[in-house]
Amino acid sequence: MSTLNRVFLSVLALTGAGNVLAEPYNTFDGDGFPACNDVALVHNATSVDDIVAYVKNASASNTPIRASGKGHMWYDTMCSDNPETIIVRTEFVNKIENFSLPEGAESGTVDIEAGVTFLQFSDYLHSNNASMGYTLVNWNITMAGAVAMGGHRSAIREDSMVAAGVLSMDIVNGNGDIVTIVRDDNDDDWLAASTSLGLLGVIVRMKFKIYPDFKVFAQQKTLDEDDVLNGDIYGMIAPYATANFWWWPYMRKFHWRYYDEVPLTLSDQQGFQNTFSISDAEATVAKATLESGKYLATSNMFFETTAFTLWSAPNFREKTTWQAILDWPVYGWNYDVLIGGLYPDQKPEWEEGLHGMTLELAFPITQANAMLKRVRQAFDDELAKGIVMTSTYRSGINIKFGKPFYNFLGQVTYNTSDGADWSKGAIMFDFPTFKPMIGDGKRFNEDFYPRLTKALIDEFPCRPHWTKNNRDVFANATKNLDPSHLARFKAVREKFDPQGIFKSIVGEILGMYD
Ligand SMILES: Cc1cc2nc3c(=O)[nH]c(=O)nc-3n(C[C@H](O)[C@H](O)[C@H](O)COP(=O)(O)OP(=O)(O)OC[C@H]3O[C@@H](n4cnc5c(N)ncnc54)[C@H](O)[C@@H]3O)c2cc1C
Ligand SMILES: *[C@@H]1O[C@H](CO)[C@@H](O)[C@H](O)[C@H]1NC(C)=O
Ligand SMILES: *[C@@H]1O[C@H](CO)[C@@H](O)[C@H](O)[C@H]1NC(C)=O
Ligand SMILES: *[C@@H]1O[C@H](CO)[C@@H](O)[C@H](O)[C@H]1NC(C)=O
Ligand SMILES: *[C@@H]1O[C@H](CO)[C@@H](O)[C@H](O)[C@H]1NC(C)=O
Ligand SMILES: *[C@@H]1O[C@H](CO)[C@@H](O)[C@H](O)[C@H]1NC(C)=O
Ligand SMILES: *[C@@H]1O[C@H](CO)[C@@H](O)[C@H](O)[C@H]1NC(C)=O
Ligand SMILES: *[C@@H]1O[C@H](CO)[C@@H](O)[C@H](O)[C@H]1NC(C)=O
Repeated sequence: MSTLNRVFLSVLALTGAGNVLAEPYNTFDGDGFPACNDVALVHNATSVDDIVAYVKNASASNTPIRASGKGHMWYDTMCSDNPETIIVRTEFVNKIENFSLPEGAESGTVDIEAGVTFLQFSDYLHSNNASMGYTLVNWNITMAGAVAMGGHRSAIREDSMVAAGVLSMDIVNGNGDIVTIVRDDNDDDWLAASTSLGLLGVIVRMKFKIYPDFKVFAQQKTLDEDDVLNGDIYGMIAPYATANFWWWPYMRKFHWRYYDEVPLTLSDQQGFQNTFSISDAEATVAKATLESGKYLATSNMFFETTAFTLWSAPNFREKTTWQAILDWPVYGWNYDVLIGGLYPDQKPEWEEGLHGMTLELAFPITQANAMLKRVRQAFDDELAKGIVMTSTYRSGINIKFGKPFYNFLGQVTYNTSDGADWSKGAIMFDFPTFKPMIGDGKRFNEDFYPRLTKALIDEFPCRPHWTKNNRDVFANATKNLDPSHLARFKAVREKFDPQGIFKSIVGEILGMYD
């Protein structure tokens, strides 16, 4: 946003005037990456009461309004395409209150407001000798934004949907009233609210389940592709607290990462994981290589080979000295090892001009081998035409997993009309790719991506992640969702938001406003 627009915006916020901004509201990727194509106003709310007031105001004039946390999503699906839309940013509504974890208790609770991020929450908990267990996604993201969109970590053994940590939540509905929804699998309000897509209203507070603080190890092994494609995938993932694969399709290798709890006294190491930060020098080389990879497969092959080698070593530093950790396994406090964040001397890759696109679909884990083999076939079909496909992401293709969690629209729900066996959990195919900023901005062999996506959607029961897919993917994937889940969700949506002021593109594609 230009300085002029920023000044203009704050003047608008002060005067309460509206409907003239006509600008995109961007994702974390910044200019050129809209979450909403055209919005009228962006408010920085400062309290729950403030959010209530904005919603009441919008409700009175039937104006579309959406909450936003950190904009950590990928496509223009946050709002509907209505230029009257108002965004309420939750960043500054971030109190953490009412901490309770009695000495010796297995778990406790704490109340958090809408703008509390994973980073803020984990710092707070760690300094109180507590943790949020495995209900984690990534770091500069709000807990409420992750709950709204069904965010999750990768685990089969432990609960890893962020919503699994929610004991109750307060939602500001379409009339501007605060409604408390308590976790209850027999209540359609809860089954909708636990992956609400923001269509019921603004999640302003949550009572969250917490645990005593603990330490974990991280271990990583390199596997040949065949060991995974024809291997016991469930058996490699389910025994651990949290585990995932990273796939290097050109190298025909996988990295297999797994984590579990260790005794507090086992090691003094304080490992800190880096998932997204990069030095200026690394970024310069990566960007030059990947931009040229728009045209040259050889650049992508070089990139994947280099990234694979770098990713084989621990992506961890010792937090007390910021020295690189060279050997597996790595030990440390749960959040630092499971997520971590930025190294102090580096920036996130997107601030270095490295932008991405992504795709994420979840499949029953019982079909994990078949799904991965189908993707391999798609890569080989390109190879037969003389086109070499690679991973263009620093950590390869992300293969994640999810323990079943029952609700209407979550990726890991079960007992659905597709008849597939989701009861053992899900495997997620999460395919981040480099987005070139040169020429037409399309990726190398761009047509490959929708072709692969369509094959997966048509040939397998599968469900989209709600912020990692574009409109076409949602449109095609909706047929795989359970119509009774959609209908019951819609009934709750109509009760919470009769005018449809919280409408989004995702909600429209799902038929929630038909
Ligand atoms: C670098 C990165 C890593 C990620 N890693 C993971 C991961 O490991 N696992 C995973 O599942 N996801 C992951 N995500 C996706 C992320 O969890 C979701 O996109 C999440 O919704 C982003 O939250 P946010 O606070 O940034 O919300 P925004 O991006 O601002 O909003 C996302 C959506 O949620 C709605 N929303 C936001 N706040 C509220 C609220 N208080 N009430 C109601 N609706 C609301 C918005 O209207 C919008 O539709 C990642 C994203 C990024 C950018
Ligand atoms: C809202 O907060 C963001 C992030 O701190 C800031 O960039 C923006 O200028 C603020 N907007 C207004 C209207 O104050
Ligand atoms: C509500 O709208 C009125 C005008 O319609 C405006 O004066 C007022 O500032 C708005 N309040 C909020 C909290 O947005
Ligand atoms: C604090 O949490 C407890 C336990 O959930 C609850 O009974 C109590 O009402 C909460 N207190 C406040 C002030 O919110
Ligand atoms: C956390 O635990 C340590 C070690 O047992 C103790 O010294 C410290 O007082 C505790 N901190 C809090 C905030 O309870
Ligand atoms: C988190 O996001 C904000 C923008 O909302 C940014 O200013 C800040 O640097 C980010 N923090 C980290 C640790 O990435
Ligand atoms: C599964 O779905 C059927 C039909 O909707 C329902 O009667 C049954 O109670 C569900 N079982 C579980 C465990 O949710
Ligand atoms: C969606 O389906 C249409 C029609 O079959 C197809 O043309 C398109 O490529 C598909 N897109 C994706 C991303 O699946």
